[in-house]
Amino acid sequence: MTKIEKIVLSYSGGLDTSIILKWLQETYGCEVVTFTADLGQGEELEPARANAEMVGVKDIRIVDLREEFVSDFVFPMLRANALYEGQYLLGSSIARPLIAKHLVGIAREVGANAVAHGATGKGNDQIRFELAVNALDPSIKVIAPWRQWNIRSRMQLLEYAEKHHIPVPSDKRGEAPFSIDANLLHTSTEGKILENPAEVAPDHAYQRTVDPVDAPDTPEIVTIGFDWGDPVSVNGKSMTPAALLTELNGLGGRHGIGRLDLVENRFIGMKSRGIYETPGGTILLTAHRGIESITLDRAAAHLKDEIMPRYAELIYNGFWFAPEREMLQALIDHSQAFVSGEVTLRLYKGSASVISRASPCSLYSADLVTFEESTIAFDHHDAEGFIRLNGLRLRSWVARNGR
Ligand code: ARG
Repeated sequence: MTKIEKIVLSYSGGLDTSIILKWLQETYGCEVVTFTADLGQGEELEPARANAEMVGVKDIRIVDLREEFVSDFVFPMLRANALYEGQYLLGSSIARPLIAKHLVGIAREVGANAVAHGATGKGNDQIRFELAVNALDPSIKVIAPWRQWNIRSRMQLLEYAEKHHIPVPSDKRGEAPFSIDANLLHTSTEGKILENPAEVAPDHAYQRTVDPVDAPDTPEIVTIGFDWGDPVSVNGKSMTPAALLTELNGLGGRHGIGRLDLVENRFIGMKSRGIYETPGGTILLTAHRGIESITLDRAAAHLKDEIMPRYAELIYNGFWFAPEREMLQALIDHSQAFVSGEVTLRLYKGSASVISRASPCSLYSADLVTFEESTIAFDHHDAEGFIRLNGLRLRSWVARNGR
């Protein structure tokens, strides 16, 4: 076994990773560097610094990764219209490779030969972190305390915290909080009462969207500009990727957009139930499909739709840094060359619907499709031959079957 000399811990500042920090120091007796990524989780990050200082961490890294997260991870994924199992916008899945990339980068910088994370042995996140580390630097060892220590439940975790004077947070109602993972793309809420899929999720399980029932009675109109497949402006105002997503999260949250109550299949083998809130991402997915509808060729669009589930599954399963994901990404990116223009949506009580779209690169031809007289040469007799030839094999088939 290689001796662990120095560890970089992916540290949220919350209860679990604070306990892990203490445990790593005790178990390995080496220096632990903490890395806290600002992914727009909307929490104060300074407590992470204070908590790390309290247990004697000397090298504390708090890094704002919001722009990199949205421009290099969320937007490339959005170009594919990626949804796992038809519904999940992959908000947690897409954040892990980015965190892993920076863990590895810091480990190299400070001469650490191990990284550690707080994901449990039952989830997808451990797989995502570790596959990414494998792909980026196989010489770095990964420590996953949840799989190693003999703390077996949340109860035991709380006892350990008490023994080591680590403050235990509780939610607004004074109860142990849900298991929450948040960033600029989404908030995921799991655990407690949600573990019974037959139970209706309580109101307080939702963190960043209003119930559509309580959303404003007047709809709101928003126009999103796209360039090369990526959103670049809101209501005519150019924005950086993170600013744009932040803006749409605000709008979407107020209108109750992007709530999802889902039972999904984890890569590790079990089903799990979670509540997802992806307000801005949901608006962007709808808008992106709207601009693609006029700018993509039919076969190109259909090919994208065929590979999408495969691409989404790769991200869900943790294969972001894998050759097949990069190959699919090249295909998807190539398809976006003319995906530019503007889409207008109406946000109303939980729904985001496209109400108009326009593009300088549009393939849509009103003159061609019109019910009225047209200047474009379209010979209606061609349609007759087209149908006759397409029907050829159907006529043979039914003749043989003797219908
Ligand atoms: N089930 C989701 C996924 O695998 C979310 C995982 C993290 N969420 C959490 N609440 N701990 O992508």
